[in-house]
Amino acid sequence: MKKIFEEIWKLALPYQDKRDDKGHAEITTNYAVQLLKLEKANEDVVVPAIILHDTGWSQLSSKDRMLIFNHQATKKQKLTVRYKHQDAGVKIGREILEKVNYPSELIPEILEIISQHDTRKDFISSEDGLVRDADKLWRFSKTGFDADIIRNRFDFWGLYDKLKEHRIEKDGFFYFKQAKKLAYKELEKRKKEYLRETN
Ligand SMILES: [Fe+2]
Ligand SMILES: [Fe+2]
Repeated sequence: MKKIFEEIWKLALPYQDKRDDKGHAEITTNYAVQLLKLEKANEDVVVPAIILHDTGWSQLSSKDRMLIFNHQATKKQKLTVRYKHQDAGVKIGREILEKVNYPSELIPEILEIISQHDTRKDFISSEDGLVRDADKLWRFSKTGFDADIIRNRFDFWGLYDKLKEHRIEKDGFFYFKQAKKLAYKELEKRKKEYLRETN
């Protein structure tokens, strides 16, 4: 990783993984780095955006942070906290990027991606697509998958089918083909692990 990315990583660390999702920042950043080797997008936009994308959760109350997982919360309530974490992430992102003297011409694009990474319907660029693909791949990683099972009391096959039928194959879910491929690969790994554990 470039030295400047490491600097951003270090400054962002105190704000990461604040939603009972230990490993989220590191795992999604790794997916982004992996995808950057397979697809075309500007790493100078993608890497800072993925590192900083969820730092905003740190600024919300613990009640607001966990509201997303509350089955009794309304759609509107959930959308409100989504916007809150995006707005707070833009603020923290700007501060950190300015602190490391990041090239100023790249900052607006990075912040634009963070500002709607969780609420935008369409993709605005391949950089936006790559960041959001990497974020979504979290749910297919061992850590993200296991967290989902515990939190939502899913059984293995329930979650497996949901991710396969209603996520990977959903129109407009992934931007890049390679992200879709990676998701299938990860899901197969989860299946193998599960079968190994249960047999
Ligand atoms: Fe987010
Ligand atoms: Fe995220």
